[in-house]
This record gives sequence, structure tokens and C-alpha cells, in this order.
Amino acid sequence: MILIAAVIAAALGISACGYGEEGLAVKQDNPNYNGAVLFATHCSGCHTLSAAGTQGSGNRGERTQGPNLNQREESYNDVLFAIQNGGFSGAIMPQNIVVGKEAEAVAKFVAKYAGSAAENSPRPGQKTGPSEP
Ligand code: HEC
Repeated sequence: MILIAAVIAAALGISACGYGEEGLAVKQDNPNYNGAVLFATHCSGCHTLSAAGTQGSGNRGERTQGPNLNQREESYNDVLFAIQNGGFSGAIMPQNIVVGKEAEAVAKFVAKYAGSAAENSPRPGQKTGPSEP
């Protein structure tokens, strides 16, 4: 956890880079790396977010499928709220999948990278998923 605390402390003032790689788009020396790893391991089953190399369940019709976070901007507080309350409705997403510093790291990562499809659209042929709109 000391490592994650250091990561959070360093999380201000970084720039987005590394898109277009396979899997995690954040490198190991990126302050959001831990958040990305945590997202990939805990949230990827339901949420698409290409910065974490995740594609959700790949089936958008499924009810457990969470919103595609490439296409939605999320604030830090909204992500923390969603983690603590199980999404905004509390109906499907489990509560407190990650807690404490880990939840904060994930929230920082998501707040930074969610909505990237709007301003940082992947090109056709780039490895980001089967069905980019
Ligand atoms: C079992 C599937 C599932 C998992 C695992 C899951 N989510 Fe969700 N999530 C959902 C669903 C479904 C919604 C939409 C319904 C709602 O908001 O209650 C949602 C909503 C959200 C929202 C609100 C998005 C919006 O704009 O409406 C955020 C942010 C979010 N999740 C982040 C996360 C994070 C971060 C994790 C990992 C710690 C995670 N989710 C894990 C299913 C999941």
C-alpha cells in the first residue's frame, strides 16, 4: 500500500500517453499504473476502458454490462461514489470491490482516462476492440 500512496502523491501533472499499445495503455512508470492494474483486474469484467485494455463482457446487451467508460467522462468523485455505492443505481454493480487507497487509485485512473474516445479516438486498425462506433 505504500507504493500506491506514492503513486497517488505523484498523480498530479501527468500527461496522457501510450495509447495504441496492447493491454494496459499506461506504462509502469505512469502514476496511474496501479489504478489501471486494479481496474483491469477488478472492473474489466463489466466495463470497457481501452486505457486499461478492457472490453467489458463484449456483449453490450447483457444486463450486467456497465457503461462503456471510453465514451463517458467521469469525475473522480463520481467514480468513488460508484465504487462505494455500486454504480449510481446500486442495482447491479457490487459495492466496494476496491476500498481505501485502492479505490482512490482506481478513481484517479478512471477520471483521467474515461471519455477518451471523445477526444482521443482510436484509428481503425488500432487494437482497441471489435466494435468501435
Ligand atoms: C458486475 C459488473 C460490474 C463490475 C465488476 C463493476 N461495475 Fe461499474 N457499473 C456496472 C453497471 C451495470 C453500472 C451501471 C448501473 C449503475 O450505475 O448502477 C455501473 C456503473 C459504474 C459507474 C457509473 C458510470 C456512469 O456514468 O453511469 C462507474 C464510474 C463505475 N461503474 C465504475 C466501476 C469501477 C471503477 C469498477 C471496479 C472497481 C466497477 N465499476 C466494477 C457494473 C459493474
